Amino acid sequence: MLKKYGFVFTEFGTSGREDKIRESIAKYLKGKVDKIDVDVNGSLICLKKGNGKNKKKLMFAAHMDAIGFIITHIDKNGFLRFSAVGYQPSYRIVSKQVIFENQVRGVIGIEKDEDFKSITEKKLFIDIGANSKDEAEKMVEIGMTAIMVNNPFEQNNKLFSSYLDDRIGCAILLELIDNIKEPYHDVYYVFTSQEEVGVRGAKTSSYSVEPDLGIALDVTVASDTPEVEFASSTSFGKGAAIKVMDRGIIVAKKLVDFLVQLCEKNKIPYQKEILTMGATDAMAIQQTKGGIIAGTISIPTRYVHSANEVCDLGDVESSVKLCGKIAETEFPF
Ligand code: CO
Ligand code: ZN
Repeated sequence: MLKKYGFVFTEFGTSGREDKIRESIAKYLKGKVDKIDVDVNGSLICLKKGNGKNKKKLMFAAHMDAIGFIITHIDKNGFLRFSAVGYQPSYRIVSKQVIFENQVRGVIGIEKDEDFKSITEKKLFIDIGANSKDEAEKMVEIGMTAIMVNNPFEQNNKLFSSYLDDRIGCAILLELIDNIKEPYHDVYYVFTSQEEVGVRGAKTSSYSVEPDLGIALDVTVASDTPEVEFASSTSFGKGAAIKVMDRGIIVAKKLVDFLVQLCEKNKIPYQKEILTMGATDAMAIQQTKGGIIAGTISIPTRYVHSANEVCDLGDVESSVKLCGKIAETEFPF
């Protein structure tokens, strides 16, 4: 995964500031798809035309944006106060290195040691080594965003990286584009913007694509670590996670059944996913226009929304296989 798509996991791109990751993906896809568009909200919409007799419009969506930080205030000593962009529990980010869109780097400091849960972003700041407000303002400005510095690696068929949410979904789309040369359906590969702040990119891009079926690729919580509080039904190594429900969607039974049948028929490992928190782009797609059949294929991931997320590459492979089958099978609905 990293060998081929390493850039996907390290490229800058906070919600609403996806320019760099979008440009890198578009560059990689040049000549590999029939059409590439960028919509007003920054989603990248790529079409690969199908050749099936009863072909329909299939949309795969993965969000490019990552959670991050935005500078809200620069104090007289040059320390930066910030606000999270997207859901970012404060206790997970203390002492982490960050990098801004202009390559300035820093580290997240805390006013004084606190109990884990009482740490809020009000008590945190970013130290960029500036000695004064003036000096800091020559390096960064209010409204500039940052992500955590990321050093991804693979070990024991697991991928360790920041921003698997949802760069792993983006990498899966790239893999599908590389693998499926002649799809049955017209396949729209949509790299969406602003998912982490409320599935905004998927809302507008699915409105313009108007697919017959929309499938989001995104992470879900793997509930298989020691003493974990129950949060979801999925764990590593059991295969592609077919979403049944989360806080944003209840997937149509006919779609869940269709995906399960494809897995059974093609011997693709799968597990059913019920997540009691969170949502994905499928939520926006389902509620587009008069309503669109939509679901999610999820990658069980540990430590979601932290600086170090982990997923199982076997599950990723199962998800790629399942998506491949969807693209070449006539829909039963
Ligand atoms: Co997320
Ligand atoms: Zn996500």
